Amino acid sequence: MCGIIGYCGHRPAVPLVVEGLRRLEYRGYDSAGVSFVQSGALHVLRAPGKLAGLEKKLEDENVFSATTGMGHTRWATHGAPVEKNAHPHRDHEGKLALIHNGIIENYQEIKAELCAEGCEFRSDTDSEVLVNLIAKGMKLHGGDVMQALSWALGRVEGAYAIVLMSMDHPGTLWATRVASPLVMGIGTGENFFGSDIPAFLPYTRDVVFLEDGELVRITSGSWEVFNTATLAPIAKEVQHINWDVQAAEKGGHKHFMIKEIFEQPKVIRDCLLGRIDGGGVRLAELDGVPVPERLHIVACGTSYHAGLWGMYLIEKLAGIPVQVEIASEFRYRDPILPKGGLVLAISQSGETMDTLAGIKLAKQRGLPVLGLCNVVGSSVSRESDHVLYTQAGPEISVASTKAMCSQLTALLLLALYWGGKKGTLPAADCARMVTDLAAMPDVLDDALPGLRREAQKLARHYAGATSFLYLGRGMNFPLALEGALKLKEISYIHAEGYASGEMKHGPIALIDPDFPTFAIALDDELFPKVKSNLVEVQARAGEIIGLTNEGLDLAVEHRWNVPRAAGPLSAFVTLPALQLFAYEMADYLGKDVDQPRNLAKSVTVE
Ligand code: F6R
Repeated sequence: MCGIIGYCGHRPAVPLVVEGLRRLEYRGYDSAGVSFVQSGALHVLRAPGKLAGLEKKLEDENVFSATTGMGHTRWATHGAPVEKNAHPHRDHEGKLALIHNGIIENYQEIKAELCAEGCEFRSDTDSEVLVNLIAKGMKLHGGDVMQALSWALGRVEGAYAIVLMSMDHPGTLWATRVASPLVMGIGTGENFFGSDIPAFLPYTRDVVFLEDGELVRITSGSWEVFNTATLAPIAKEVQHINWDVQAAEKGGHKHFMIKEIFEQPKVIRDCLLGRIDGGGVRLAELDGVPVPERLHIVACGTSYHAGLWGMYLIEKLAGIPVQVEIASEFRYRDPILPKGGLVLAISQSGETMDTLAGIKLAKQRGLPVLGLCNVVGSSVSRESDHVLYTQAGPEISVASTKAMCSQLTALLLLALYWGGKKGTLPAADCARMVTDLAAMPDVLDDALPGLRREAQKLARHYAGATSFLYLGRGMNFPLALEGALKLKEISYIHAEGYASGEMKHGPIALIDPDFPTFAIALDDELFPKVKSNLVEVQARAGEIIGLTNEGLDLAVEHRWNVPRAAGPLSAFVTLPALQLFAYEMADYLGKDVDQPRNLAKSVTVE
């Protein structure tokens, strides 16, 4: 999500920090800022938009004597992308500055407590709450920064990587993490923090990868790691990395797409942050919004496929009639949108022209709009009456992967939330699904390397195909559509996604030994139906990859067993399998995976 760099050394810190932020630009951001201690004062400079805005502000300052500093590029999760919300944030007495990547789930409770004690806030962020909590900890612990951090972090819930500086300790930085990336760079007479290695790569290749619950203190000549809770010292290994800048940007992966596929366990965790509570679902964004009588989902491309998947789920769990519309069709129809309905606009970028036009039409017809999007402050989020953010972090690969995973997570939360409100979903069923969903990131972390190996094997076998049929039924039908879309957009192999039962109404004419089928045939109530559809393919000598579960009676050319997951949760395993197959095909064929021809990340034209 956000970009972080911290520096303690012998060079002028501010230019080095700004240069580090520039190397993190590839991740995308909406504002930037730096802080440093100079002449006994803690300085913070921030600007919305690109780094040029920050550099312009720095032109008027003499920033060359500070040799400790830190900088941040923000990808908004709380509060609009404006200067007051940009990092670093200071505590209300202006003695501490903090940069933060992640989400503090219980910041509202802590903010209320601090407000009651007279603390004033200048931003809408959870990060400003955290720095003020640390300042309170300093008071409680006689000004000891380590004790204060340990105390404050013991009280917060959520995911974070933070770097802290103090006016009273101008040559020291502290940092810690939970479920957000943070690395330390070890130099000679200088040490670094970075959210990613490129932040400091020109200066050192000796790195220490920090783990959850570790607290670090650096100066120009020292670095020490402690357990955040107990402050007991921890021995860490320094690793030498040989990555070039491009590999470092991709976290050592060959492409952003594969990096983002592997980020999906984290994407699920981040989407759930602050939204599940015991066995229930809490969506503060929907407080006061009545459960809709009908839902009209409007989206394009991969987001449309997520919407289709959501339709099955919301109808089943919440009993709400759902219509899913391709935005470019919806906007030029004369749709019937009776009162009591809600339009759900799904968009990763929040800038897709057709989806925005759909929102406008809905509003003209008097229907409220809920935006489900990733980019905070985007047009969809501004035009919608309510917004649910997917919290997936920047998606760089043009082909969308982790964004869909986050949309599925959010749609499942919506179905559970509305099902609970309407009483169509028993609390025990909801609790079971919430528990299974919360466990999904670990399942996926374990499964992804094996899924990739299988995808590599299959890609080598099928790379000569010129066409593919993807089949799925029920909730797996939208996933079949998505599998086909991924394959065609990055490998340029023609692919069709079809509902298995519909195949005999036309596409079956195409089946021959050179036209393979990728079938989603999982352990669910529709398995026997899918199986008989596949027999029809086999009768015409078509080869089949069967994405299935161990123990199921399915005889196909290439059986691909994936871990079993309960009900709709199987999508969180199926989706990465489909993405990995497309990725490995495209990579094997030498295609430009991250920048496929003719495609753009944000489609802001008709
Ligand atoms: C496919 C893909 C596109 C987008 C579509 C909608 O990999 O990325 O199909 O899903 O252009 O984009 P958003 O979600 O930004 O509205």
